[in-house]
Amino acid sequence: MKILVTGGTGYIGSHTCVELIGSGHEVVILDNLYNSSENVIDRIETITGVRPAFYRTDILDKEGLEKVFQENDFEAVIHFAGYKAVGESVAIPLTYYENNISGSINLYQMMKKYGVRNLVFSSSATVYGDDFEVPFKEEYGLGTTTNPYGTSKKMNEMIITDMDNADPERSSVLLRYFNPIGAHSSGLIGEIPNGIPNNLLPYVAQVASGQREYLRVFGNDYDTPDGTGVRDYVHVVDLARAHVKAIEYAAEHTGTEVINIGTGKGYSVMQILKAYEKACGKELPYKVVDRRPGDIAVCYADTKKAEELLGFKAEYDIDRMCEDSYRFYANLENIDK
Ligand code: NAD
Ligand code: UFG
Repeated sequence: MKILVTGGTGYIGSHTCVELIGSGHEVVILDNLYNSSENVIDRIETITGVRPAFYRTDILDKEGLEKVFQENDFEAVIHFAGYKAVGESVAIPLTYYENNISGSINLYQMMKKYGVRNLVFSSSATVYGDDFEVPFKEEYGLGTTTNPYGTSKKMNEMIITDMDNADPERSSVLLRYFNPIGAHSSGLIGEIPNGIPNNLLPYVAQVASGQREYLRVFGNDYDTPDGTGVRDYVHVVDLARAHVKAIEYAAEHTGTEVINIGTGKGYSVMQILKAYEKACGKELPYKVVDRRPGDIAVCYADTKKAEELLGFKAEYDIDRMCEDSYRFYANLENIDK
């Protein structure tokens, strides 16, 4: 299939392009490089032996977007492009809604105009909010989001479902990611942190590399086995493989499917820290501080639907996730960012 990948030079997008190419698909990447670099195209080529076509285009630029659709005959779109920092979205909500909602609507309008009916969208476990019991099941529906980023994901899910209802030939898979971590085993692509990392893994990696003195563990008084927050960490390469299965599923079906992508297992902050210590071969200092506002205690996926519908099951465990993450961060100084 010829597939448009928006946000394809980003963290999850770049890994997905590698897996799509490996499965014989033709990839066209669209990205405005707000949070990534064109050098990622070279690295995808190094890993796969194939250089994907690249457009430096903003999804807010309707004319630029139309040019991409005029010049290509796409069968499907995988839509990653967007902003993703939860805290920032609270501070600048309109910027988030403009990019994540208006930008997405521009893309969906172009898909409609050019008759492209198959879509995979990057949603998030954050749409469950704190309303339901773990493991989170797709049938729960949408919970109460607590920040504009989460709300933008929820609104996208609703918009896409409405479009699918209006056009019975359309087909969408809404993937609700849990916590993607890790990197490609080549050490060439991964998540390049921008400023002080908000997420656990990039922060731990910077403690391991000596850039940060210690990890702040946000609370050890949660109702969890060791008191620290529990999440469902999924290797980004597993997540990328799920996208290949999802877009192939979308091409063969119609309607809307919401599918969780995680491992179904929860690990605490302390368990991740210990796994990372094993991967990097040293002790990592930490201090327990107050809970981070908005955090929930436990979040992990029910993964049955991904298995049944897509035949997808995550393969990599947290040791492998931490090893691959450490390899990438240790290699960062050799990489032309
Ligand atoms: P990322 O920032 O690495 O990738 C997003 C890419 O989109 C970047 O390359 C950025 O330059 C591009 N982009 C942003 N705005 C754009 C615009 N207006 N036009 C064109 N390109 C634009 O993020 P990621 O971690 O790879 O996440 C990909 C998607 O998955 C996002 O939609 C994100 O919200 C979603 N998601 C991520 C996580 C996570 O933990 N990483 C969890 C759940 C959902
Ligand atoms: N944590 C720390 N110290 C840190 C960073 C995180 O103790 O420096 C803890 C958090 O309190 C939480 C766990 O590590 O218990 C994971 O935190 P992350 O920030 O890595 O991930 P979240 O689960 O909070 O959020 C992520 C994405 C969101 C997405 C959500 C959906 O960042 O975009 O998963 O599950 F919405």
